[in-house]
Amino acid sequence: MLIKIPKSWQLSESDATPENIYKERRRFMKGTAAVITGGIAGSLLGRDAFAAWVRGEKLPNVVQSQYTTDEELTPYDDVTQYNNFYEFGTNKGDPYDNALDFKTKPWTVEIAGEVNNPGIYDVEDLLRPHQMEHRIYRHRCVETWSMVVPWVGVTLADIIKRLEPTSRAKYIAFETLHDPKQMPGQNRNVLQWPYVEGLRMDEAMNPLTLLATGVYGEVMPPQNGAPIRLIIPWKYGFKGIKSIVKITFTEKEPPTSWNVSAPREYGFYANVNPEVSHPRWSQAKERRIGSFFKQPTLMFNGYGEDVAHLYSGMDLAKYF
Ligand code: MTE
Repeated sequence: MLIKIPKSWQLSESDATPENIYKERRRFMKGTAAVITGGIAGSLLGRDAFAAWVRGEKLPNVVQSQYTTDEELTPYDDVTQYNNFYEFGTNKGDPYDNALDFKTKPWTVEIAGEVNNPGIYDVEDLLRPHQMEHRIYRHRCVETWSMVVPWVGVTLADIIKRLEPTSRAKYIAFETLHDPKQMPGQNRNVLQWPYVEGLRMDEAMNPLTLLATGVYGEVMPPQNGAPIRLIIPWKYGFKGIKSIVKITFTEKEPPTSWNVSAPREYGFYANVNPEVSHPRWSQAKERRIGSFFKQPTLMFNGYGEDVAHLYSGMDLAKYF
């Protein structure tokens, strides 16, 4: 892990020329329409009237994180066009095709359960008091592809501390929006909806756990989980729940979507582990998107120094 010199996509809003905004024609047309309608509505109703995502909006006041890898980045188009987001379809290109008009503003997050500061928070109010960071993380899917992604987000632990969980809070549960009108995939029973995920409290408090709201220095596109999604870089990608609307502090281990769907294949922990195979395929190797050759998968996705202590004494073949 090392600190890097800022790249062009890390510059502040005023420094950067959004030259890549209108690269793709379809998005240009849609983006322009959004700016025009948003502009008119925005002047009448205030900024929240900008409901649909427009490419190129830089996130301000972002600093470089100490938790960052210097590996070659996966290009923006791969990060944002090769996705898993079953609410928008099960093919890798479906989220890009179907999520463009997904409304991410205004957006609220309900905080519930064993916590002193429950309530319904505007997502901006949840994030704004905390330092936003650029973090380049390895991103490893259980399907054995991987990427290197420059996320922008806030350390989840900072938010948790402000919300003040009670001493009974041992776990934290997350829930995605349930809105079949906007999310066509929710009209099919491929998973139980809403998508849910969970972490043990010490995993959630680890400084690597990120609540992300951007990629490549820009506001996150819907297909990647806007406006906020979880990133736990030492776990398989399915733990990184997208478009979160509820966070509940619990005493008991919460259910998780993939474990409910296929308990013998997906456990609660889902730590990247080259020695524990998925029942139907090996996890020993991965293919970086853009590379032809496979490479060995690292224990805890290479983050063992920071997280191995969380699992000392645990049988990781049992708690997979
Ligand atoms: N979150 C929700 N709500 N729905 C999903 O289908 N897919 C998961 C995870 N988060 C998923 C989700 C899976 S399987 C992976 S690998 C990652 O999101 C993919 O994140 P990415 O598309 O940003 O690479």
